[in-house]
Amino acid sequence: MNAAAPPSPYVRIGGEPVVRAIVDRFYDLIERDAAYAGLRALHGADLGPVRHGLTRFLAGWLGGPRDWFERGQCVMSLHRAFPISSDLADQWASAMTCTIAGDATLDPKLGDAMAEALGHMARGMINFGLAKSAVA
Ligand code: HEM
Repeated sequence: MNAAAPPSPYVRIGGEPVVRAIVDRFYDLIERDAAYAGLRALHGADLGPVRHGLTRFLAGWLGGPRDWFERGQCVMSLHRAFPISSDLADQWASAMTCTIAGDATLDPKLGDAMAEALGHMARGMINFGLAKSAVA
């Protein structure tokens, strides 16, 4: 390991407990705020598995343990199965931006960079409601 390498964003934000807390607050917000009803409706009744999946994804994406990525799946391809309109992508991006902004412990520069990058990713998933099953 290069001793001079800067710490990863994963280390800088506080590792797994902080990532998990962000994901929990993100899905709690989606569950309780009617502004995200469309996004909530697309998910299964039990948000437990997706809370776990997003935690593991973000851990690897931020430079931490890569177990989610080692499954060999691409997060963009996986979302082709869902009908993602621009409104739903905006709901996702907005819920994540609010969640991150509400975390006083996060370095604001790092938080802004995360929210911006995730927002771009969410908007890259827009498929105008043409889920894979409908177009394959
Ligand atoms: C940066 C943007 C996003 C990321 C990083 C992300 C990440 C994830 C991850 C990691 C999972 C769990 C998959 C697994 O581990 O097998 C998941 C599931 C899911 N995502 Fe996303 N997602 C994003 C945006 C969106 C958007 C924009 C929508 C819809 C509008 C969406 C809808 C879903 C649905 C419906 C599931 C399945 C949940 C379930 O089965 O209950 N995601 N997402």
